[in-house]
Amino acid sequence: MKMKLFRTDLLQAGPPSDISVPHKENMMCLNESVLDPYQAIDEAFHQTMQDVRLNRYFSHVTSELKRLLVEYVGHGATKDNLLWGNGADDMLFACFLAARENDAAFAVSLAPSYFDYSTYSRAAGLGMKFIDYLSDFDFDEKEYLKVLNSPDCRLGVLCNPNNPTGHLLSAEKVLHILENTDKPVLIDETYFEFSGKTFVDRVSDFSHLIIVRSFSKSFSAAGLRFGYIVSQSQNIEEIRKTQTIFNTSIMVQAFVMTMLLNKEVFLRHTAAVVALKHKLYEEMTQIEAIKTLPSATNFLTFSAGERSSALFEHLKQHEIAIRDVGAHPLLTKHLRVSVGSPEQNRLFVDTVRRFFA
Ligand SMILES: Cc1ncc(COP(=O)(O)O)c(C=O)c1O
Repeated sequence: MKMKLFRTDLLQAGPPSDISVPHKENMMCLNESVLDPYQAIDEAFHQTMQDVRLNRYFSHVTSELKRLLVEYVGHGATKDNLLWGNGADDMLFACFLAARENDAAFAVSLAPSYFDYSTYSRAAGLGMKFIDYLSDFDFDEKEYLKVLNSPDCRLGVLCNPNNPTGHLLSAEKVLHILENTDKPVLIDETYFEFSGKTFVDRVSDFSHLIIVRSFSKSFSAAGLRFGYIVSQSQNIEEIRKTQTIFNTSIMVQAFVMTMLLNKEVFLRHTAAVVALKHKLYEEMTQIEAIKTLPSATNFLTFSAGERSSALFEHLKQHEIAIRDVGAHPLLTKHLRVSVGSPEQNRLFVDTVRRFFA
């Protein structure tokens, strides 16, 4: 008889869903940045590394990074309000682990949203329920609260702005949720810098609010792997218990510290991406055959109806990789393009136009 070596729920979960995207010359599929942060700050980084000893577990970099991140987060946050790890993904996973009370425990989110909420909650042994957005991407906050306040629900998850739709949630509804539950509510602000909208200023008001952020998008450092949580100190203490002690490499901390010392480079780039997004949106709305959703992020989601999958293949053949986000019924036949360089955006629009010509 074959012995079961691992958790039964993992066996039942089936194989992990690998990110399957085409690897093409123009990668406009993962909401990455075209700015290479290493090239942008390499001299300053080398300078920082002069004083860093990688043979040691501890480094002065950690306290300096905390100081700079506190300054960046603002709104009265202190170092006790912060926790960091390997990307927003790692922070989501830490929260899911911390929220998993028992086998019956689950989290609730809205759908369609970030694909990997289910992946990581499953890995943490936490169930996940989704409430569908309405057809205009508004949502029923009463229904959400009903599920959130049910006994086995241990965590509410909201993505703002939302991936893959690109829209911002109604601030009134989010506040209504916060005011009417005592369950932890995680707001995923991975794309917040593109929208300028945040709930970080409400962390001091709500003891159950957890903000998750990333350095992969606005700070251009997807491959670096750095994300962080902002929450009240008692939550940080609990969530931290799910992490390994030296979870984030000193080299990554030193790099992020150098990025924050040079944050204008990245904030300028973010502003440029937002301007390019508006331009791309304008151009896409002029193409009659596609319908493009407005977006508060660095990507645009659109549909060419029945011709979406042919368009996806056509773009692939022309070395442009975008993402098919049509898995949820509300986004059937929808595709998502990340804002690229001005040249890539031009190429994308021209290639789409030629497809319909
Ligand atoms: C909504 C959302 N949350 C989290 C993440 C993960 O970000 P990170 O690269 O920081 O792990 C992504 C990545 O695309 C995302 O879209």
